[in-house]
Amino acid sequence: MKAVILVGGKATRLEPLTVNTPKAMVPVLNTPFLEQVIHLLSRHQVKEMVMAQGHLAQPIEGYFGDGSRFGVRLYYSIEDSPLGSAGAAKNAEKYLDGTFLVVNGDIVTDLDITAMTDFHEQRKAKVTIAVVGVDDPTSFGLVDSDGLGRVTRFLEKPKPEEVTTNMINAGAWLVEPDVLARIPTRAQFSFERDLFPQLLVQGDPVYAYPLSGYWMDMGTPEKYLQLHRDLLSGRSRQYAPAENIPAGARTAIHPTAEVSGQVMLGADCSIGPRVKLTGPVVIGDGCSIGEGCLIEDSVIWQKTVLGPGVSLKGCIVADNCRMSAGSSGEGVVMGDRVTVANNRKLETYRKIWPGTTIEGES
Ligand code: GTP
Repeated sequence: MKAVILVGGKATRLEPLTVNTPKAMVPVLNTPFLEQVIHLLSRHQVKEMVMAQGHLAQPIEGYFGDGSRFGVRLYYSIEDSPLGSAGAAKNAEKYLDGTFLVVNGDIVTDLDITAMTDFHEQRKAKVTIAVVGVDDPTSFGLVDSDGLGRVTRFLEKPKPEEVTTNMINAGAWLVEPDVLARIPTRAQFSFERDLFPQLLVQGDPVYAYPLSGYWMDMGTPEKYLQLHRDLLSGRSRQYAPAENIPAGARTAIHPTAEVSGQVMLGADCSIGPRVKLTGPVVIGDGCSIGEGCLIEDSVIWQKTVLGPGVSLKGCIVADNCRMSAGSSGEGVVMGDRVTVANNRKLETYRKIWPGTTIEGES
Protein backbone atom coordinates (compact mmCIF):
# COMPACT_ATOMS: atom_id res chain seq x y z
CA MET A 1 0.00 0.00 0.00
CA LYS A 2 1.18 3.52 -0.77
CA ALA A 3 0.64 6.64 1.30
CA VAL A 4 0.19 10.33 0.61
CA ILE A 5 1.65 12.47 3.39
CA LEU A 6 0.18 15.97 3.49
CA VAL A 7 3.02 18.38 4.16
CA GLY A 8 1.74 21.50 2.38
CA GLY A 9 -0.56 24.03 3.96
CA LYS A 10 0.18 27.35 5.58
CA ALA A 11 1.21 26.29 9.11
CA THR A 12 0.25 29.74 10.41
CA ARG A 13 -0.63 28.45 13.89
CA LEU A 14 2.94 27.27 14.48
CA GLU A 15 4.45 30.63 13.57
CA PRO A 16 7.01 32.06 14.19
CA LEU A 17 8.65 28.59 14.14
CA THR A 18 7.37 27.88 10.61
CA VAL A 19 8.22 31.20 8.94
CA ASN A 20 11.46 29.74 7.52
CA THR A 21 11.03 26.05 8.38
CA PRO A 22 8.31 23.83 6.89
CA LYS A 23 6.15 22.22 9.59
CA ALA A 24 7.42 18.81 8.46
CA MET A 25 11.02 19.85 9.18
CA VAL A 26 10.33 21.26 12.65
CA PRO A 27 12.46 19.11 14.97
CA VAL A 28 10.81 16.76 17.43
CA LEU A 29 13.31 15.19 19.82
CA ASN A 30 16.03 16.62 17.59
CA THR A 31 14.90 14.97 14.33
CA PRO A 32 12.68 16.52 11.66
CA PHE A 33 9.07 15.86 12.51
CA LEU A 34 8.37 14.02 9.26
CA GLU A 35 10.90 11.35 10.16
CA GLN A 36 8.57 10.13 12.92
CA VAL A 37 5.71 9.78 10.42
CA ILE A 38 7.93 7.90 7.95
CA HIS A 39 9.09 5.46 10.66
CA LEU A 40 5.51 4.78 11.79
CA LEU A 41 4.38 4.00 8.23
CA SER A 42 7.44 1.92 7.51
CA ARG A 43 6.89 -0.21 10.63
CA HIS A 44 3.47 -1.08 9.16
CA GLN A 45 4.99 -2.07 5.81
CA VAL A 46 3.93 1.13 4.04
CA LYS A 47 7.21 1.68 2.20
CA GLU A 48 6.20 3.99 -0.66
CA MET A 49 5.11 7.50 0.22
CA VAL A 50 4.23 10.59 -1.78
CA MET A 51 5.04 13.90 -0.14
CA ALA A 52 2.23 16.25 -1.15
CA GLN A 53 3.76 19.64 -0.61
CA GLY A 54 3.58 23.28 -1.45
CA HIS A 55 5.75 26.25 -0.54
CA LEU A 56 9.00 25.63 1.39
CA ALA A 57 9.19 22.25 -0.39
CA GLN A 58 12.92 22.26 -1.08
CA PRO A 59 14.20 21.61 2.47
CA ILE A 60 12.03 18.48 2.71
CA GLU A 61 13.34 16.95 -0.51
CA GLY A 62 16.87 18.08 0.33
CA TYR A 63 16.81 16.20 3.64
CA PHE A 64 14.79 13.07 2.78
CA GLY A 65 15.84 12.60 -0.87
CA ASP A 66 14.54 9.36 -2.41
CA GLY A 67 14.01 7.91 1.08
CA SER A 68 16.63 5.16 0.78
CA ARG A 69 18.40 6.44 3.92
CA PHE A 70 15.17 5.64 5.80
CA GLY A 71 14.46 2.31 4.07
CA VAL A 72 11.52 3.68 2.06
CA ARG A 73 10.81 5.05 -1.42
CA LEU A 74 9.69 8.69 -1.51
CA TYR A 75 8.05 10.63 -4.33
CA TYR A 76 7.36 14.36 -4.38
CA SER A 77 4.19 15.99 -5.64
CA ILE A 78 4.35 19.77 -5.65
CA GLU A 79 1.38 22.15 -5.64
CA ASP A 80 1.79 25.63 -7.13
CA SER A 81 -0.79 26.86 -4.65
CA PRO A 82 -2.29 24.85 -1.75
CA LEU A 83 -4.96 22.52 -3.14
CA GLY A 84 -6.42 21.36 0.18
CA SER A 85 -6.18 17.78 1.47
CA ALA A 86 -8.19 16.09 -1.31
CA GLY A 87 -6.77 18.33 -4.07
CA ALA A 88 -3.30 17.35 -2.84
CA ALA A 89 -4.15 13.62 -3.07
CA LYS A 90 -5.57 14.14 -6.58
CA ASN A 91 -2.38 15.94 -7.58
CA ALA A 92 -0.45 12.82 -6.48
CA GLU A 93 -2.72 10.45 -8.45
CA LYS A 94 -0.06 9.32 -10.90
CA TYR A 95 1.88 7.69 -8.05
CA LEU A 96 -1.12 5.81 -6.67
CA ASP A 97 -2.59 2.39 -7.42
CA GLY A 98 -4.97 0.45 -5.18
CA THR A 99 -6.14 1.41 -1.70
CA PHE A 100 -3.99 4.20 -0.29
CA LEU A 101 -3.40 5.90 3.04
CA VAL A 102 -3.55 9.67 3.47
CA VAL A 103 -1.86 11.07 6.58
CA ASN A 104 -1.61 14.60 7.87
CA GLY A 105 2.07 15.38 8.12
CA ASP A 106 1.65 16.93 11.57
CA ILE A 107 0.45 14.10 13.80
CA VAL A 108 2.32 11.85 16.21
CA THR A 109 0.38 8.70 16.92
CA ASP A 110 0.55 5.05 17.90
CA LEU A 111 -2.12 4.29 15.25
CA ASP A 112 -2.02 0.60 14.30
CA ILE A 113 -2.14 1.00 10.52
CA THR A 114 -2.08 -2.78 10.01
CA ALA A 115 -5.19 -3.30 12.16
CA MET A 116 -6.88 -0.30 10.52
CA THR A 117 -6.26 -1.83 7.08
CA ASP A 118 -7.85 -5.13 8.20
CA PHE A 119 -10.84 -3.18 9.56
CA HIS A 120 -11.15 -1.27 6.25
CA GLU A 121 -11.07 -4.48 4.20
CA GLN A 122 -13.52 -6.37 6.42
CA ARG A 123 -16.05 -3.52 6.22
CA LYS A 124 -15.49 -3.10 2.45
CA ALA A 125 -15.30 0.62 3.18
CA LYS A 126 -14.85 3.32 0.57
CA VAL A 127 -13.05 5.44 3.15
CA THR A 128 -11.99 4.62 6.72
CA ILE A 129 -11.21 7.54 9.00
CA ALA A 130 -9.02 6.98 12.07
CA VAL A 131 -10.77 8.67 15.01
CA VAL A 132 -9.66 9.58 18.50
CA GLY A 133 -11.44 10.96 21.57
CA VAL A 134 -10.57 14.50 22.71
CA ASP A 135 -11.92 16.75 25.47
CA ASP A 136 -12.95 19.58 23.16
CA PRO A 137 -13.82 18.59 19.57
CA THR A 138 -14.68 22.15 18.42
CA SER A 139 -11.37 22.78 16.66
CA PHE A 140 -11.39 19.39 14.88
CA GLY A 141 -13.59 17.37 12.50
CA LEU A 142 -16.34 15.67 14.50
CA VAL A 143 -17.09 12.07 13.45
CA ASP A 144 -20.41 10.47 14.50
CA SER A 145 -20.75 6.75 13.86
CA ASP A 146 -23.23 3.93 14.57
CA GLY A 147 -22.64 0.77 16.61
CA LEU A 148 -20.84 -0.93 13.71
CA GLY A 149 -18.53 2.01 13.17
CA ARG A 150 -20.29 3.33 10.05
CA VAL A 151 -19.96 7.12 9.91
CA THR A 152 -23.30 8.91 10.08
CA ARG A 153 -22.07 12.51 10.22
CA PHE A 154 -18.83 14.42 9.61
CA LEU A 155 -18.75 18.00 10.78
CA GLU A 156 -15.62 20.13 10.48
CA LYS A 157 -15.05 22.52 13.43
CA PRO A 158 -18.49 22.05 15.10
CA LYS A 159 -20.05 24.75 17.26
CA PRO A 160 -20.33 23.77 20.95
CA GLU A 161 -24.08 23.09 20.55
CA GLU A 162 -23.35 20.74 17.62
CA VAL A 163 -21.05 18.47 19.62
CA THR A 164 -22.65 15.03 19.96
CA THR A 165 -19.50 12.92 20.45
CA ASN A 166 -15.91 13.47 21.51
CA MET A 167 -14.57 11.41 18.57
CA ILE A 168 -12.67 13.45 16.01
CA ASN A 169 -10.83 12.91 12.73
CA ALA A 170 -7.29 11.89 13.71
CA GLY A 171 -5.84 12.87 10.31
CA ALA A 172 -5.26 9.41 8.80
CA TRP A 173 -7.60 7.94 6.19
CA LEU A 174 -7.67 4.79 4.08
CA VAL A 175 -9.14 5.56 0.69
CA GLU A 176 -10.27 3.40 -2.24
CA PRO A 177 -8.75 4.56 -5.54
CA ASP A 178 -12.08 5.18 -7.33
CA VAL A 179 -12.70 8.04 -4.88
CA LEU A 180 -10.04 10.02 -6.78
CA ALA A 181 -12.45 10.30 -9.72
CA ARG A 182 -14.69 12.47 -7.51
CA ILE A 183 -11.97 15.04 -6.85
CA PRO A 184 -11.54 17.88 -9.35
CA THR A 185 -8.13 18.30 -10.98
CA ARG A 186 -5.88 21.18 -9.85
CA ALA A 187 -8.64 22.75 -7.74
CA GLN A 188 -9.00 23.46 -4.02
CA PHE A 189 -10.82 20.46 -2.55
CA SER A 190 -10.90 19.13 0.99
CA PHE A 191 -11.53 15.62 2.28
CA GLU A 192 -12.96 17.08 5.47
CA ARG A 193 -15.14 19.87 4.10
CA ASP A 194 -16.07 18.54 0.66
CA LEU A 195 -15.46 14.84 0.07
CA PHE A 196 -16.50 13.19 3.35
CA PRO A 197 -19.85 15.04 3.53
CA GLN A 198 -20.48 14.21 -0.18
CA LEU A 199 -19.74 10.50 0.32
CA LEU A 200 -22.14 10.41 3.27
CA VAL A 201 -24.93 12.11 1.28
CA GLN A 202 -24.42 9.59 -1.51
CA GLY A 203 -24.63 6.66 0.95
CA ASP A 204 -21.09 5.40 0.38
CA PRO A 205 -19.67 3.19 3.14
CA VAL A 206 -17.46 5.45 5.26
CA TYR A 207 -16.19 3.91 8.51
CA ALA A 208 -14.54 5.23 11.68
CA TYR A 209 -11.61 3.28 13.15
CA PRO A 210 -11.01 4.25 16.81
CA LEU A 211 -7.29 4.39 17.44
CA SER A 212 -5.86 3.25 20.72
CA GLY A 213 -2.69 4.68 22.21
CA TYR A 214 -1.13 8.07 21.79
CA TRP A 215 -2.26 10.82 19.42
CA MET A 216 -1.25 14.46 19.19
CA ASP A 217 -1.39 16.99 16.39
CA MET A 218 1.45 19.44 16.41
CA GLY A 219 -0.71 22.39 15.36
CA THR A 220 0.37 25.09 17.82
CA PRO A 221 3.45 25.96 19.92
CA GLU A 222 1.60 24.84 23.08
CA LYS A 223 0.94 21.43 21.54
CA TYR A 224 4.53 21.26 20.32
CA LEU A 225 5.79 21.66 23.90
CA GLN A 226 3.18 19.22 25.20
CA LEU A 227 4.29 16.69 22.58
CA HIS A 228 7.85 16.87 23.95
CA ARG A 229 6.64 16.47 27.53
CA ASP A 230 4.57 13.44 26.48
CA LEU A 231 7.28 11.76 24.42
CA LEU A 232 9.97 12.29 27.04
CA SER A 233 7.72 10.87 29.76
CA GLY A 234 7.03 7.75 27.71
CA ARG A 235 3.37 8.35 26.86
CA SER A 236 3.78 7.17 23.26
CA ARG A 237 5.07 3.86 21.96
CA GLN A 238 7.01 5.90 19.36
CA TYR A 239 9.75 6.80 21.85
CA ALA A 240 11.17 4.95 24.84
CA PRO A 241 12.75 7.39 27.33
CA ALA A 242 16.41 6.63 28.02
CA GLU A 243 17.74 5.99 31.51
CA ASN A 244 20.91 8.01 30.92
CA ILE A 245 20.91 11.45 29.35
CA PRO A 246 20.91 10.88 25.58
CA ALA A 247 23.64 13.17 24.24
CA GLY A 248 25.08 13.40 20.74
CA ALA A 249 28.75 13.08 19.79
CA ARG A 250 31.29 15.56 21.22
CA THR A 251 28.77 17.12 23.63
CA ALA A 252 30.45 18.22 26.85
CA ILE A 253 28.55 18.61 30.11
CA HIS A 254 30.52 20.42 32.83
CA PRO A 255 30.81 18.30 36.01
CA THR A 256 29.11 21.02 38.07
CA ALA A 257 26.04 21.14 35.78
CA GLU A 258 22.86 19.66 37.30
CA VAL A 259 20.50 17.67 35.12
CA SER A 260 17.15 16.41 36.39
CA GLY A 261 14.05 15.02 34.69
CA GLN A 262 14.07 13.90 31.06
CA VAL A 263 16.71 15.75 29.06
CA MET A 264 17.98 15.14 25.53
CA LEU A 265 21.06 16.81 24.07
CA GLY A 266 22.23 16.93 20.45
CA ALA A 267 25.81 16.69 19.17
CA ASP A 268 28.55 19.31 19.61
CA CYS A 269 26.90 21.07 22.53
CA SER A 270 28.62 22.65 25.47
CA ILE A 271 26.79 22.77 28.81
CA GLY A 272 28.66 25.16 31.09
CA PRO A 273 29.46 25.17 34.83
CA ARG A 274 26.55 25.30 37.29
CA VAL A 275 23.96 25.09 34.51
CA LYS A 276 20.65 23.62 35.71
CA LEU A 277 18.61 21.66 33.18
CA THR A 278 15.23 20.68 34.60
CA GLY A 279 13.46 18.35 32.17
CA PRO A 280 11.65 18.02 29.98
CA VAL A 281 14.40 19.81 28.06
CA VAL A 282 15.62 19.15 24.52
CA ILE A 283 18.66 20.95 23.12
CA GLY A 284 19.67 20.54 19.46
CA ASP A 285 23.10 20.20 17.81
CA GLY A 286 25.79 22.85 18.21
CA CYS A 287 24.29 24.82 21.12
CA SER A 288 26.33 26.53 23.80
CA ILE A 289 24.73 26.98 27.22
CA GLY A 290 26.71 29.46 29.35
CA GLU A 291 27.64 29.29 33.00
CA GLY A 292 24.76 29.29 35.46
CA CYS A 293 21.92 29.12 32.89
CA LEU A 294 18.61 27.76 34.20
CA ILE A 295 16.56 25.90 31.61
CA GLU A 296 13.28 24.21 32.41
CA ASP A 297 10.50 22.65 30.31
CA SER A 298 11.90 24.05 27.05
CA VAL A 299 12.97 23.03 23.56
CA ILE A 300 15.97 24.66 21.89
CA TRP A 301 16.80 23.95 18.24
CA GLN A 302 20.29 24.05 16.70
CA LYS A 303 23.28 26.40 17.02
CA THR A 304 21.79 28.66 19.65
CA VAL A 305 24.09 30.40 22.12
CA LEU A 306 22.98 31.36 25.62
CA GLY A 307 25.28 33.66 27.57
CA PRO A 308 25.90 33.24 31.31
CA GLY A 309 22.91 33.31 33.62
CA VAL A 310 20.20 33.06 30.97
CA SER A 311 16.97 31.63 32.28
CA LEU A 312 14.26 29.94 30.18
CA LYS A 313 11.04 28.27 31.27
CA GLY A 314 8.33 26.87 28.97
CA CYS A 315 10.10 28.31 25.92
CA ILE A 316 10.78 27.23 22.34
CA VAL A 317 13.91 28.73 20.80
CA ALA A 318 14.56 28.07 17.09
CA ASP A 319 17.94 27.88 15.27
CA ASN A 320 20.82 30.36 15.56
CA CYS A 321 19.47 32.54 18.36
CA ARG A 322 21.72 34.55 20.69
CA MET A 323 20.65 35.46 24.20
CA SER A 324 23.12 37.59 26.13
CA ALA A 325 24.05 37.37 29.80
CA GLY A 326 21.23 37.50 32.31
CA SER A 327 18.36 37.62 29.80
CA SER A 328 15.31 35.49 30.50
CA GLY A 329 12.01 34.30 29.12
CA GLU A 330 8.95 32.40 30.22
CA GLY A 331 6.43 30.98 27.73
CA VAL A 332 8.24 32.63 24.80
CA VAL A 333 8.29 31.21 21.25
CA MET A 334 11.34 32.53 19.40
CA GLY A 335 11.84 32.19 15.65
CA ASP A 336 15.31 31.64 14.17
CA ARG A 337 18.16 34.21 14.33
CA VAL A 338 16.70 36.24 17.19
CA THR A 339 19.17 38.27 19.25
CA VAL A 340 18.41 39.34 22.81
CA ALA A 341 20.53 41.90 24.68
CA ASN A 342 21.95 41.56 28.20
CA ASN A 343 19.52 41.29 31.06
CA ARG A 344 16.38 41.64 28.93
CA LYS A 345 13.34 40.00 30.48
CA LEU A 346 11.03 38.76 27.76
CA GLU A 347 7.85 38.57 29.85
CA THR A 348 5.97 40.86 27.52
CA TYR A 349 6.81 38.81 24.43
CA ARG A 350 4.80 35.72 23.43
CA LYS A 351 6.14 35.29 19.91
CA ILE A 352 9.34 36.76 18.51
CA TRP A 353 9.67 36.83 14.74
CA PRO A 354 12.82 35.48 12.97
CA GLY A 355 15.72 37.90 12.71
CA THR A 356 14.42 40.24 15.44
CA THR A 357 16.94 42.02 17.66
CA ILE A 358 15.72 42.89 21.12
CA GLU A 359 17.94 45.73 22.27
CA GLY A 360 18.96 46.49 25.81
CA GLU A 361 16.81 48.85 27.85
CA SER A 362 18.29 52.33 28.17
P1 GTP B 1 -2.52 26.11 10.01
O1 GTP B 1 -2.45 27.22 9.00
O2 GTP B 1 -1.65 26.42 11.17
O3 GTP B 1 -3.89 25.65 10.37
O4 GTP B 1 -1.78 24.83 9.40
P2 GTP B 1 -1.96 24.00 8.05
O5 GTP B 1 -2.07 24.86 6.86
O6 GTP B 1 -0.77 23.09 8.07
O7 GTP B 1 -3.35 23.28 8.19
P3 GTP B 1 -3.83 21.98 8.95
O8 GTP B 1 -3.21 21.91 10.29
O9 GTP B 1 -5.30 21.95 8.88
O10 GTP B 1 -3.26 20.83 8.02
C1 GTP B 1 -3.22 19.48 8.38
C2 GTP B 1 -2.13 18.82 7.54
O11 GTP B 1 -2.44 18.93 6.17
C3 GTP B 1 -0.78 19.41 7.75
O12 GTP B 1 0.15 18.36 7.77
C4 GTP B 1 -0.58 20.30 6.52
O13 GTP B 1 0.80 20.31 6.18
C5 GTP B 1 -1.40 19.59 5.47
N1 GTP B 1 -2.07 20.49 4.51
C6 GTP B 1 -2.99 21.45 4.78
N2 GTP B 1 -3.39 22.05 3.64
C7 GTP B 1 -2.71 21.46 2.63
C8 GTP B 1 -2.68 21.65 1.21
O14 GTP B 1 -3.37 22.49 0.64
N3 GTP B 1 -1.81 20.85 0.50
C9 GTP B 1 -1.03 19.91 1.09
N4 GTP B 1 -0.22 19.18 0.31
N5 GTP B 1 -1.04 19.70 2.43
C10 GTP B 1 -1.86 20.46 3.18
